[in-house]
Amino acid sequence: MKVMIGRATPEDAGAIASLAAEALAMQIEADSPRVRKFLDGGLTFVAKTDEAIVGFASSFFTSDLIGSRRFELDLLAVAPGARGHGVGGRLVEASLGAAKESKPALIRALVRSSNGSMQRLCRRHGFTAPPGTCRLFVTVPRPVVCQQRNHAAYLIPVETLNYSGIWLEGELSQEAIDDALWKASQSEVSTIGAVIPSDAIHAVDLLRANAFSKVGDYGWWTINSRSD
Ligand SMILES: CC(C)(COP(=O)(O)OP(=O)(O)OC[C@H]1O[C@@H](n2cnc3c(N)ncnc32)[C@H](O)[C@@H]1OP(=O)(O)O)[C@@H](O)C(=O)NCCC(=O)NCCS
Repeated sequence: MKVMIGRATPEDAGAIASLAAEALAMQIEADSPRVRKFLDGGLTFVAKTDEAIVGFASSFFTSDLIGSRRFELDLLAVAPGARGHGVGGRLVEASLGAAKESKPALIRALVRSSNGSMQRLCRRHGFTAPPGTCRLFVTVPRPVVCQQRNHAAYLIPVETLNYSGIWLEGELSQEAIDDALWKASQSEVSTIGAVIPSDAIHAVDLLRANAFSKVGDYGWWTINSRSD
């Protein structure tokens, strides 16, 4: 099977959405201008045979609490019939190549604790295993009465292939959650997320009390790219 890796274009949206539905059980709105704009951003790669798109990887940048750039390797999927031939690895390599062009402080991937295949792939491509596990919680925006600003958390805007969101990082508090809900209600944000250490009992209680639901157990796989 001859497979070419290249940058995705907006015209690939339909094939990527079908693959995301099949391999990731994830809905991507192929016709939305937001998705087409994202695909024009140069951080999504596709694996193509003569007949079809058989894989894709999508990534995006965020800034950390001190403003350093992080490259977030986000979604990776290979069609079941094309797996085990190095396509996933080549998509990761292409993504890492794009990452390193802009010299981010950190390259990382949030990988499910149960996804051994993705963990092995990360290890093969230079990522380091995380020291502990985390839990990912998400909620959908809802109206709040007024904006809160007095908190020590960091609200990170994220634009991904499948959602516009706000990530809550740093010190979680009710004020921080209300601030995120407020900002989300003023924009097109569809998801608010928080990744917290598995032993952060107080944060779990706070998130659950605010209608966040647990997506699963994850680990942050990282490459410190400036040390290359
Ligand atoms: C994870 C995933 C992307 C891997 O894609 P892939 O194309 O199979 O990845 P690779 O081929 O590079 O590696 C897979 C295996 O094939 C092996 N392999 C790679 N090239 C090979 C070759 N030429 N011949 C034989 N085996 C090969 C690898 O060593 C690896 O083995 P391992 O799993 O025992 O470590 C794919 O399984 C998938 O889409 N899973 C569902 C979605 C998912 O979990 N995505 C990640 C989270 S977003």
